[in-house]
Parts: sequence; C-alpha cells; structure tokens
Amino acid sequence: MEMFTFGPGTIVGPYRIVKQIGSGGMGAVYEAAHLVLRRRAAVKVLHAHLRGKSGLDARMIQEASILEDLCHPGITRIYDCAVLADGRPWIAMELVPGESLAVRMAREVRIPHADLSKLMSSIADVLATVHVRGIVHRDLKPDNILFAELHTGFPLRIIDWGVARLGPSARLTQDGVTCGTPIYMSPEQCAGKNIAPACDVYSLGIMAYEALCGHPPFEGENLAEVVKLHLHGAAAPLATKCPTAPQKLCELVHQMLHKVPTMRPTASTVSLRMNELANSITDARHDFAQFELEEPPSEFASFEITGGAPQPVRAAKFGPSHALDQILTETSDSDTTAKWASDPGGPDRKPEQSASDSTTRATRTSAQVEKLGR
Ligand SMILES: Nc1ncnc2c1ncn2[C@@H]1O[C@H](COP(=O)(O)OP(=O)(O)O)[C@@H](O)[C@H]1O
Ligand SMILES: [Mg+2]
Repeated sequence: MEMFTFGPGTIVGPYRIVKQIGSGGMGAVYEAAHLVLRRRAAVKVLHAHLRGKSGLDARMIQEASILEDLCHPGITRIYDCAVLADGRPWIAMELVPGESLAVRMAREVRIPHADLSKLMSSIADVLATVHVRGIVHRDLKPDNILFAELHTGFPLRIIDWGVARLGPSARLTQDGVTCGTPIYMSPEQCAGKNIAPACDVYSLGIMAYEALCGHPPFEGENLAEVVKLHLHGAAAPLATKCPTAPQKLCELVHQMLHKVPTMRPTASTVSLRMNELANSITDARHDFAQFELEEPPSEFASFEITGGAPQPVRAAKFGPSHALDQILTETSDSDTTAKWASDPGGPDRKPEQSASDSTTRATRTSAQVEKLGR
C-alpha cells in the first residue's frame, strides 16, 4: 500500500509543512505554517492510495464544506481547501494543540464526575448546533475530541467530519453501508438504517459510560459480537458498576444508550442536564469543603479511593470506518481488526504508563481527602 507522506518543508498551497501530527482512515494531518501570515494550521491531505476511490475525494471536500458552514467554537475553523497537482484534496484548518479525550481517558482512570459532566455538556452543545442543521457526525469517539487552549473560549473541538451526513438529500454512502467505529456505533447504524441525530447521542452515551467505569458497555471477541450487543445487549447498570457516581448522571447516560432512537434525549437536553449536574456536583463539593462534613456526598468522584490499583480497560480502536457487511464477514484470526480483543487497550494504549498514572492518581486523591480533614 502506497503511504506517501510529506516531509518538513513541503509546500501545500500557501502552507509549509512542519511535521506530521496525525493520521486517520482518510488522510494524513500535518502541522503547517502559512507562507505569509503568522498562522499555524492543521493540513489534512487525502492518503495517496485513496485517490479517486469510492468517492473519498468528495467526502473530504464535503468535510471542508461542513466546517465552512458550521459556525461553533467547538468545531475547527476552516482556512482553505484545494486539490494538489496529483488530484488529492487537502484542507487547512485550525490547529488544535491539545490532547484527545482518548489520551486523557487512558491517562486518568476516572475523570472526576463534575469534569466529565461539563465535558459531556460541551460536546452535546456542539452536536445540538449541528443537529439543528440536519448534520449528523456519525463517528463520534474519544479520538475525535481534541482539547483546546483555554483562551480560545471553548474547551474542545470535535474533529473528523469526513463521514458526517448532511441530511437525506446529500447522503454520500450507499444505503445499507455503515460508517462509524463499532464500539461507539448506535444500533441503527449497526443495522445500516435511520441515521439521525440520535445516533450521535448514543455514541456520546458510550463515551460517557466508558469514562465513568473504565470500559465501554459493549465489548466482544470480534466485531460481529460488538454489533450484536449494540443491537440486543443491555448495558450493565452504571449504578452498580460505579456506585459513587451521581444517580442522575447514571440515569442520563442509560437514557442516551436507549436502543430506540426516539427514546434518547436530544443533544440539547443532554447539554443542559449535564451542565446542571456539573454545577450541582461542584456546589456540593464546595459545601463539603466549607462545612467539613463528616462524609462527602456520593458525587465526590474525585475523592474516591478504590482498593488496589485500578485496572482500566479502554475501548479498542477498530481503525477507520467499516461497512457492516465487511464487519460481518471479517475472518476471526487473519485480520488485525479481529485481534483487538486480545489487546483490550488497542494499539494506542500504553498500559504501563496508565498503571503508574493510576497510582499517582490514587495518591493524589488520598492527599485531597486528607486536606479536607476527612
Ligand atoms: N485540527 C486539528 N488539529 C490538531 N490535530 C488534528 C486536527 N485534525 C486532525 N488532527 C489529528 O490527526 C488525526 C487524524 O485526523 P482525522 O480528521 O481523524 O483524519 P481521518 O479523516 O483520516 O480519520 C486525529 O486523530 C488528530 O490526532
Ligand atoms: Mg479519524
């Protein structure tokens, strides 16, 4: 497979490539400097081996159009889009320097409940804006959430709008072909039908569940099993899996995971309720610190101390989008995607690093409890 990448100094439109910062199923992403302006940008270029294949050039142009149409601080600003001499499209967009939610989830065993609720509220806020315009992201997952610098006015950016759907008239995939990453994919996506905003809410619910208890609700030995669980499996109750989590937070996440799309809350409801939850947890924490209560309220996720070193198991990465028929026919041992089960952390995970970070986190939380005079 031809994997042509650009070295430092390569000129793409009015940009000079500085270094490669990422790569996905569709393209390689580079940090680049504008030749005239002081601007730094993220330049995404379609992989050479995908040139002219299955309308992927069109998808990339579509991603650029979506970025241009949508005006929300949680969506990367687009600067430019054009086609290289060899026919490959490229996009220049706002460079987001922060880590991804996937990296944060691998580092922090459990994100404090107030932070998590705030984070979910922000992501849902972006989704609410795009859903109103009939756009569905369709590939929401922790890798596609990047943390932004504080001064930019919004805490994160949702990236990778390449498989987003623009509404019934602008569908780029054929009927029955599924886009998305199986661990985060809604039942209706798994079944290749009814792609509506509710599918993003489901994916967000999976992310919240994973962040709360260290692993996603549906895992299996192979892709077909995961798909089956999305379609028919029941997520283990969060109230049992993480008893310290606020009951309302657990309930909301389970509602987001409802099998019936119309029974899920909308993104705007999720944003509102997550924000309320974040505020109530923060207020409770403040009261506790102020009055030196004997026992912290159960919402005190960040002060939770569990016995022994926590053993987080994060969602494996399935790589780029899969067509359902491809998923179901994949062989169980010859394909790298089938091997994910034996490496539950997926290719990006660094278990040693997470384990030591977990220890650091346990020490840190103990110190916090002590400081509060528990
Ligand atoms: N605007 C950006 N700023 C910083 N890094 C980015 C940006 N866009 C993408 N990346 C990095 O490049 C990787 C691949 O980008 P993505 O849009 O997911 O590509 P693909 O469409 O090929 O899946 C991301 O996971 C991220 O690490
Ligand atoms: Mg991607």
